[in-house]
Amino acid sequence: MDSFTNDSSTMKQIRDKHFVPYITSDKITERIKALAAQINEDYKGKNPLLIGVLNGAFMFVGELFKHLEIDCEITFIRVSSYHSTESSGQVKQIIGLKESIQGRPCIIVEDIVDTGLTMQEVLGQLASQKPDSLKIMTLLHKPDALKVPLKVDYVGFEIENRFVVGYGLDYDGLGRNLDGIYVLRSDS
Ligand code: IMP
Ligand code: MG
Repeated sequence: MDSFTNDSSTMKQIRDKHFVPYITSDKITERIKALAAQINEDYKGKNPLLIGVLNGAFMFVGELFKHLEIDCEITFIRVSSYHSTESSGQVKQIIGLKESIQGRPCIIVEDIVDTGLTMQEVLGQLASQKPDSLKIMTLLHKPDALKVPLKVDYVGFEIENRFVVGYGLDYDGLGRNLDGIYVLRSDS
């Protein structure tokens, strides 16, 4: 095997695109433990409801949940607004929330906040159900891509405005199973 084929051992090809390592799984786990410690502190005795946004957040919220030591519950919603590597800017309805969130402390858990349009919509729809409090947690945040004012309460990593995959995030349905985060190679 040619050892000079530009880090082919770590580079990932997904369909037509090439991705290179960006955040290692060890770093992700370490950061999630720190976020969990923060939630353990901030929500002691409050029994928060974590609302994971499918599909992207499943791995993040699963790992986070393992490290929560307080009483807490979990549910999932689905909302899809993203096609291929560009945000469509079209946000759909929230589906899947069966339980009442009225009067409950809630934390929305997302994989990534990009333009912020999805989160703004989700936030508005959930707020209308009068939770006790409603906070936002995201594994990744691209501050330079934000198109709407949005206060993100808990951020795993602030990243550049580049397309990433792995740890639940996909490119055209693939790449979610990668255990680290990979970024689209700039020459792709
Ligand atoms: P927003 O509405 O632009 O903030 O986008 C939110 C959704 O788009 C996220 O929940 C992701 O599903 C998807 N998304 C945004 N940026 C990326 C990315 O870099 N890789 C994969 N999916 C992304
Ligand atoms: Mg998502």
